[in-house]
Amino acid sequence: MSDTIRISICDPNEKSRENLKKFLVGMDRIWLEADSSRYEFFMQIVEQTNPDCVIIDLDNDENKALQLIGLIKESRPSCGIIAVSTRTEGTLILKTMRSGAGEFLNAPVQVDELLGAVERVTKNSFGTQRAKSGSIIAITGASGGVGSTSIAVNLSCALAQNRSNNVVLVDLDLSLGDADIFLDTLPEYTILDVSQNIARLDLAMLRKSLTKHESGVYLLPRPMHLEDMGAISKEQFRKVLGLLKASFSHLVIDLSKSFNVLDMVAMEMAEHILIVTQLDLPCLRNIVRILTSLEQHDGLLDRVKVIVNRVGLDKSFISFAHAEETINREIYWKIANNYAVIAEARNNGVPLVMGAPKAPITQQICELADKLYASSGQSQSAEPEAEKKEKKGWLKFLSKSP
Ligand SMILES: Nc1ncnc2c1ncn2[C@@H]1O[C@H](COP(=O)(O)OP(=O)(O)O)[C@@H](O)[C@H]1O
Ligand SMILES: [Mg+2]
Repeated sequence: MSDTIRISICDPNEKSRENLKKFLVGMDRIWLEADSSRYEFFMQIVEQTNPDCVIIDLDNDENKALQLIGLIKESRPSCGIIAVSTRTEGTLILKTMRSGAGEFLNAPVQVDELLGAVERVTKNSFGTQRAKSGSIIAITGASGGVGSTSIAVNLSCALAQNRSNNVVLVDLDLSLGDADIFLDTLPEYTILDVSQNIARLDLAMLRKSLTKHESGVYLLPRPMHLEDMGAISKEQFRKVLGLLKASFSHLVIDLSKSFNVLDMVAMEMAEHILIVTQLDLPCLRNIVRILTSLEQHDGLLDRVKVIVNRVGLDKSFISFAHAEETINREIYWKIANNYAVIAEARNNGVPLVMGAPKAPITQQICELADKLYASSGQSQSAEPEAEKKEKKGWLKFLSKSP
């Protein structure tokens, strides 16, 4: 079964109809099947095109619209029905739902509300969730230079290899981010442009302002100038992510590692929070500090996955078991040390899946992508056991061998 949701719209008002179309055209996995300005002809359109979901505006003629909803519900029970109106009285909402609508949205429709409604009505109709807003993977590191950007960039390209995925990479390292270098791109617009124009952007314009790499990944780079790093508000950024979630199946965000307000927004909205680390004392100590801090925010800890990078770099490295004991959490994934391959990929601006598809490190990153999404239906908890192990001094590692 196709993942695409076919939607038809009936709205006699041209302006609001066009507005809805603008949103739907850019949404991931949504296909705009038909749009009509006449309640009278819409049933015929539904019969001919058999859409998965219809959106019906009530404002032009409430009675005709409700009658139409009733007809669709009766003849196409599996079709999700979303009603839209500028009015919000309880009696109207009740009448609409009793006619057979699955969702009622207040106009003007907001993109995230629309996406949520489409998700819900198609889930109800098909028993499975066919529409899904984008999944966010927020990637941070336990220290500078641990490989967060290398993993963010290459993981996004690995995800983009699956043609049914739509992937955007967001560089949230607003001062010194270098995701554009890894992809050898010269972006025209940055996260600052998109954030400052977010109120005016629709999905099609949003896509145009991103840079598409030949791997299939879209890039939203950091601002051009250092002094612009404070110019994006939390609210703007939340909206940017909302719009991206409607348009892409996967959002990979390379965080700044300063745990600032924007990093926190990204983590709050993320399905997976990856903490990249190397097996050394400063990194492990920082992971404990990060986990302690994330514990203050509801639900964040359950989404954290610790990724050990550059395994094998240091022969006297701390053992995985000791590391897990210290951070009181299992290591979710390990990526080998291979400086030659990864540095060449970065220096040439060619991601691993394109420049070194057969290298074991590339396979490990592709398998990480598989693991993240193979387990998405299950509990995200990466916690091993609730029992807390006794914490000992940091320097115990110096006397332990792997
Ligand atoms: N698995 C790896 N093996 C070898 N070198 C790596 C690996 N991952 C990253 N590096 C190297 O580590 C350095 C820092 O990587 P980068 O991704 O920029 O880290 P961060 O974003 O955490 O600062 C780079 O020189 C990069 O090539
Ligand atoms: Mg980086």
